[in-house]
Amino acid sequence: MAGAQTRTSYDTAAERSDALWRKIGEDPSGLRMLTGDRPTGALHIGHYFGSLRNRVRVQDMGVETWLIVADYQVITDRDVIGDIKGSVRELLTDYLAAGIDPERSTIFTHSAVPALNQLMLPFLSLVTQPELERNPTVKAELAAAGKSAMGGLLLTYPVHQAADILFCHGNLVPVGRDQLPHIEQTRVIARRFNERYAGGEQYFAPPSALLSEAPTILGLDGEHKMSKSRGNTVMLRMTADETLKKIKKAKTDSDRLITFDPEGRPEVANLLTIAAECSGRAPQEIAEEIGDKGAGTLKMYTAEVLNEHLRPLRERRAELEQDPGYLFEVLRRGNERANAEADATLQRVRELMGMVY
Ligand code: TRP
Repeated sequence: MAGAQTRTSYDTAAERSDALWRKIGEDPSGLRMLTGDRPTGALHIGHYFGSLRNRVRVQDMGVETWLIVADYQVITDRDVIGDIKGSVRELLTDYLAAGIDPERSTIFTHSAVPALNQLMLPFLSLVTQPELERNPTVKAELAAAGKSAMGGLLLTYPVHQAADILFCHGNLVPVGRDQLPHIEQTRVIARRFNERYAGGEQYFAPPSALLSEAPTILGLDGEHKMSKSRGNTVMLRMTADETLKKIKKAKTDSDRLITFDPEGRPEVANLLTIAAECSGRAPQEIAEEIGDKGAGTLKMYTAEVLNEHLRPLRERRAELEQDPGYLFEVLRRGNERANAEADATLQRVRELMGMVY
């Protein structure tokens, strides 16, 4: 069993993900993608290259697509809700501008789908306090929020997220590595539900994470992540000029010879990664071409290919911004579809649990 001991849960998740990619390519029927975001404002290129572009690809390969705008998750780690409606509108705009097709895909919010939220009650009965407390992503979020006491919703939101996925029988969840503990928790909940409440019937199928090769884009100030609050981002909604200004201000180093060295020169490598994502070229090739022309040349090239790549998206974005009525109409239709699905699931859950009176 020595081999088995060296296998990590990441390896297992990666294997399941590889099998899913094959299935998507061969026959996407029966696959349902469920993923989403917390509505905290407009999206930046880290979101776009890290996940949104990949979701659009999977949608376009024929996988049924459900996107949750996780409004109740916004209040897991902060006390101030802020302009939530504005944030939802920005997110809808970015989704549609990036190519999410509202005719084929369902976009919905937590707060508009009561039956989804109700599933959290039976699901909570299937998890223990130590399981919840050892979730590494929840612990990291508590630390990042700078709070000493864990909020009840922060502790239990992975269970809520299980409801997000299972209410519509989502079986494919494209996420980054930080979300894997939540997918694992969802798999456990699905299995325990089937055993404990469904008499062994496979009512909820354990979903799989879909991992991608997408890179993590660092903040332009060299910080680990792009984050709007740090101002180290390029937002999708920026103009070409604003983008150029941001990229010009990006932190680099004083070595004029441009090389792709993510460990030793993360800031330069980050710009090369962005340029590579936009141009479809390898970052090493771009580095060689720039050679000893320095960071200034690299920045000009990066801004140029980035602006070129985002131009069609930004044009659609500008059109969509003119019509918020349409955006919220798309959300209302999505919420309707999500409610129909959630009501049916909750009804079946009540039957399985003997709670139909
Ligand atoms: N927790 C996810 C994030 O912060 C957002 C999310 C909410 C989600 N519900 C989900 C992702 C269900 C995948 C599946 O990015």
